[in-house]
Amino acid sequence: MSSLADQRVLVLDFGSQLAQLIARRVREQHVYCEIVRHDITADRLRELEPMGIILSGGPNSVYEPGAPQCDPELFELGIPVLGICYGMQLACQALGGEVKNVPSREYGRAHCLVEDDSDLFAGVRRDTEVWMSHGDQVTAIDEDFTVLAHTSTCPYAAVRHKRRPVYGLQFHPEVTHTVEGKTLLANFVREVCKCEGTWRLGDFAEETINRIREQVGSDRVICGLSGGVDSSVVAALLARAIGPQLSCILVDNGLLRKDEERAVVEEFSTHFKTDLHVVKGEDRFLAQLAGIVDPQEKRRRIGHEFINCFKEEADKIEDAKYLAQGTLYPDVIESGASADGPADTIKLHHNVGGLPEELGFDLIEPLRDLFKDEVRQLGLQLGLPEEIVWRHPFPGPGLAVRCLGEVTRDKLEMLREADAIVVGEIKAAGLYRSTSQAFAVLLPVQSVGVMGDSRTYDNAVCVRCVNTDDFMTADWSHLPHDLLSRISTRIINEVKGVNRVVYDISSKPPATIEWE
Ligand code: XMP
Repeated sequence: MSSLADQRVLVLDFGSQLAQLIARRVREQHVYCEIVRHDITADRLRELEPMGIILSGGPNSVYEPGAPQCDPELFELGIPVLGICYGMQLACQALGGEVKNVPSREYGRAHCLVEDDSDLFAGVRRDTEVWMSHGDQVTAIDEDFTVLAHTSTCPYAAVRHKRRPVYGLQFHPEVTHTVEGKTLLANFVREVCKCEGTWRLGDFAEETINRIREQVGSDRVICGLSGGVDSSVVAALLARAIGPQLSCILVDNGLLRKDEERAVVEEFSTHFKTDLHVVKGEDRFLAQLAGIVDPQEKRRRIGHEFINCFKEEADKIEDAKYLAQGTLYPDVIESGASADGPADTIKLHHNVGGLPEELGFDLIEPLRDLFKDEVRQLGLQLGLPEEIVWRHPFPGPGLAVRCLGEVTRDKLEMLREADAIVVGEIKAAGLYRSTSQAFAVLLPVQSVGVMGDSRTYDNAVCVRCVNTDDFMTADWSHLPHDLLSRISTRIINEVKGVNRVVYDISSKPPATIEWE
C-alpha cells in the first residue's frame, strides 16, 4: 500500500476488468486510489482509513455459489460506499434490496432519467446517456433507499441509502460511453467523500527520487531499457537520483521494429550520460520461438529468454545490487501480483514476476503505482523529449504478438517493413500524436490476388490503429480513406509477399488492441 497519499479511495475488485479504469478515473480527480481484494476485512479498512470505498462490477451473479462477497461490516463503517453494477447489487442485497436475473443481458447505451440531482448527480443533465453491461439487476429496494435515476428497463439505475452514505449505480460511470460518468465519480470523491484533490504527480517525482537515493545509497542499479516511455522514465528518474551509479541494458530480441535498436541507442546517448550495454539476442529468441503458435506460450518463452539474456549481461556488471523496472500499476493488477484479485488474467505480461529472485537483485519499481498517462506526464516533467514521451506503446514481446502463428525471420522482415509504412504514413499525415497506437499485423492467411498477368497467393497484412486514453478501452481510429489507401498501396507495392491489406475496425472491448 503506497504511503504517498493521506487521502485515498479504495476500489474493491470483484473481478471486473474495469476496476483499473475506476481507479484511474478517481486519480484524475487528484485523489489517490488503489485497488484491493474484494474480501478485505472491515478491520483492515478501519486501519487504512480510506475516504471512500468503491465496489467494482464483476462477472458473477450475487446468488451464484462462490460469488465474491465483501465483509458486510464495511457498510457500518460510516465511510462512503459507491457500488457499481455487481457492487451495487451486493450493497442493495446487504441492505435489504432484491436482485434478480433479467431475461436478457443488457449491454450498451441507455437513456438515464435523473430523479434526484442533490448530490451524486449534481450538475448532471436530466436525460443522460449511460453504459449498461449486466445480467442481474436490482428489482426491489426497501424504503431505506431513495431512487436517484432510472432507465426504461431499469427502475433502479441509481440509488442512495437514506441513513448511510451508500450509493449504487447499475451502469458503469468509469467508461467514456457514460457521457457524464466523470461528473458522477467527481461528485462521489469530492462531494460525498470530501476528498480535497491534492494528489499531484510533481510531488510523486520528488518523493520517488528521494526514496530511490535513500534506498540505493552508494550501490549500483541496473535498468532494462526498451526505448518505450516506461523504461525511459524509469531511467530518467534514476539518472536524476543516482546518475553515475546507473547501468542500462538493452536486449535486442530480434522482435523490435525497423531501426529501433539504433534509434534507442542514439536517443539514449543524447539524453542520458550513463553506462549502456546492448545485448544482440535475435538468434536465441528466434530459436525459442520456432514452431510455437500459442500466444501465451510465445510470451512465456520470450519472457524467459529475456531473463536469460539480461542475467548474462547483468552478471558482467560488477557490484550491481538493484534492478529497476518500468512496471506500471495495470501490470501489477493484471498479473494479480499485488491486489491478488479475482480478475481473469487476459494476457500474460512478461515484465512482471519471477525476475528478482532469479536475478538475485533487489527490485526498484518506481512506476508501480502509476497508470500509463501519468507516466507520460511524469516524463515531460522530468524533461524527456516529446518524441520519447509520446511514442506509441510497444509490447514487451514485440512483433512476435503481431506475427500471428509461428514467428520466423522472413515473416518478421515482412511485418517490419509493413509496420514502418503504417507508422511512417500516419506520422506524415500528422496523425501520430492524435492516435494512441498504430501498427501492422501479419495475418496467418494467404489469399489469391493478381499482379501484372500472374496469379498470386500471398500474405495479408492488417492495419490496426486505435484511440484510447487508458489502453483498457479503445476505439478504432477513423483514419482518412486517402491515408488508408496510401498505406495499402505502399504495402502491396513495397513489401514482397503481401498482396492484401485490411483495416481492423474492432473496438476494445470486446476485441483487444493486439491480436495476440
Ligand atoms: P491489449 O492487446 O491487451 O493491449 O488490448 C493493451 C496494451 O498493452 C500492450 N500489451 C503489452 N505490453 N507486454 C507488454 O509490455 C505484453 O505482453 C503486452 N500485451 C499487450 C498493448 O500493446 C497495448 O498498448
